[in-house]
Amino acid sequence: MEILSYFMLVSLAVVAVYGSDSVDLPRSSRLTLSQKKSTGFLHLDRRDGLASEGIKIDAGFWYADFTVGGASNLSLLIDTGSGDIVVNPGIYIPGKTSENLNITFENTYGTTSKDGTGSATIVGDLYSDKVIFGGLTATQIVGAANGTSPLQKSGIAGFSGQRFNQFPASSNATPFFQSLCDQKKVSECRFGLALSDDGTGIQILGELDTSLYTGDLVVAPIIENWVLLGDLVVGGEVQERDMLIELDSGTATIVGPIVTVSAIFNATGIQGVLRSTSEGDLLTGYFPCDKPPTVGFNFPPKTNASLAGKDSLSAISMRSSTFNIPLNAWAAVDNGNNNCTAVLSGQNYEAHPGLWVIGQPFFQGLYIDHNLENGTVGFAKLKRTSPGRSTTAPTASVPTPTGDAIIHKHSAWAMLVLAFSLVVVVTM
Ligand SMILES: *[C@@H]1O[C@H](CO)[C@@H](O)[C@H](O)[C@H]1NC(C)=O
Ligand SMILES: *[C@@H]1O[C@H](CO)[C@@H](O)[C@H](O)[C@H]1NC(C)=O
Ligand SMILES: *[C@@H]1O[C@H](CO)[C@@H](O)[C@H](O)[C@H]1NC(C)=O
Ligand SMILES: *[C@@H]1O[C@H](CO)[C@@H](O)[C@H](O)[C@H]1NC(C)=O
Ligand SMILES: *[C@@H]1O[C@H](CO)[C@@H](O)[C@H](O)[C@H]1NC(C)=O
Ligand SMILES: *[C@@H]1O[C@H](CO)[C@@H](O)[C@H](O)[C@H]1NC(C)=O
Ligand SMILES: *[C@@H]1O[C@H](CO)[C@@H](O)[C@H](O)[C@H]1NC(C)=O
Repeated sequence: MEILSYFMLVSLAVVAVYGSDSVDLPRSSRLTLSQKKSTGFLHLDRRDGLASEGIKIDAGFWYADFTVGGASNLSLLIDTGSGDIVVNPGIYIPGKTSENLNITFENTYGTTSKDGTGSATIVGDLYSDKVIFGGLTATQIVGAANGTSPLQKSGIAGFSGQRFNQFPASSNATPFFQSLCDQKKVSECRFGLALSDDGTGIQILGELDTSLYTGDLVVAPIIENWVLLGDLVVGGEVQERDMLIELDSGTATIVGPIVTVSAIFNATGIQGVLRSTSEGDLLTGYFPCDKPPTVGFNFPPKTNASLAGKDSLSAISMRSSTFNIPLNAWAAVDNGNNNCTAVLSGQNYEAHPGLWVIGQPFFQGLYIDHNLENGTVGFAKLKRTSPGRSTTAPTASVPTPTGDAIIHKHSAWAMLVLAFSLVVVVTM
């Protein structure tokens, strides 16, 4: 859980023409993330305030070092499933350019502890201030919490799209990475997460770092950052097409619709236990620890891939590739006697029927490029990764432990992306 070393990459193509309030030029940056082991499990999901009960996750969340206003060395959770920056009570120190917006906020995050569900609300005041991450500075709306906060360490930094912002619209807040793009602080409006399975990770800001992965980047269109469609693949066979999937680095597990997860459990010999909780039904799976199943997702989904095949200018990959949940990531809890609680569980989000939330176990061993400029997500296998992750081949691999991520930044407009997403959301 320490903050590891922290270094910058030389910027790539820099166009110095951008007008901006400061002298820093658009560039890219690369920094190391640290993983916090957690016995509890904070499910950063504000959709319905649903939470996963009965699962103790010994997996980590990803943290990185930020400066917010006059407070440096803050360790914030990197969360692609929410959009706001919130620092815990007592942490915010106004910087030189701090402005109190005289607006309060009330954000809700779903949480779970080992014995229960529940959601937590964080309240406080909004400020405009400078936020520095990976050497890149943006003027940003930040929330200074007061009262209590369930967030560990110093708070949370959201990297989702605007749609997952919770601050009042009157604050005109944009997610931090969008601010970096809008303020021309990054050379390209994209960031990467490269979480390995050994507890180390990198976030790449402002570029695609091709040196970190092998093979081609598989590019899929998004509906919203970071929601996309994918096909479910069990044992190498496509079982369900065009599922709605949210990629959420701030979730410690993988959650799918109960009926689908039940079918996966039945097909792979996992014992499913359905419990009803105050916040809805929850399907938990138990499997023999030495026999994790082979379950994964196709990106882009076949429908998008075949469309791309008809358009030679498309940035979307023309072929689907399967990315399996790493075998070594399957055990959320080892219950002894070769009985493990599965990292995959079933839960229905009322507001978004059919939604999957794919958390950080899936990220391990992958480079995931979050491209705001083109409205795409790219996937590739990390170099120096364990054999636990299979990509194109549906065959399973050797289990290995957890990993870590990297982030990056970029410049561009996200409006494109918004247009994209709304169309799709309506469709579902
Ligand atoms: C930040 O933390 C590091 C490591 O804990 C420490 O060496 C450094 O002095 C701290 N910087 C500030 C400004 O507090
Ligand atoms: C917030 O209120 C203070 C005190 O009334 C005022 O000085 C400041 O200008 C206000 N800020 C904004 C953004 O309205
Ligand atoms: C927290 O801030 C809100 C909004 O400014 C305020 O209404 C509330 O009284 C504050 N609570 C505490 C414990 O300071
Ligand atoms: C999985 O098996 C259980 C027990 O036989 C059954 O109740 C359930 O309906 C099955 N799920 C699906 C999706 O077929
Ligand atoms: C991807 O597929 C979805 C659902 O079939 C469709 O709505 C969307 O337009 C496709 N996007 C692209 C870029 O092919
Ligand atoms: C966006 O896609 C176009 C092709 O459609 C490509 O030329 C361009 O390099 C892409 N930009 C980024 C930042 O990926
Ligand atoms: C595995 O452990 C769980 C929790 O202790 C228990 O409910 C379940 O029945 C066990 N499954 C098997 C197959 O032993």
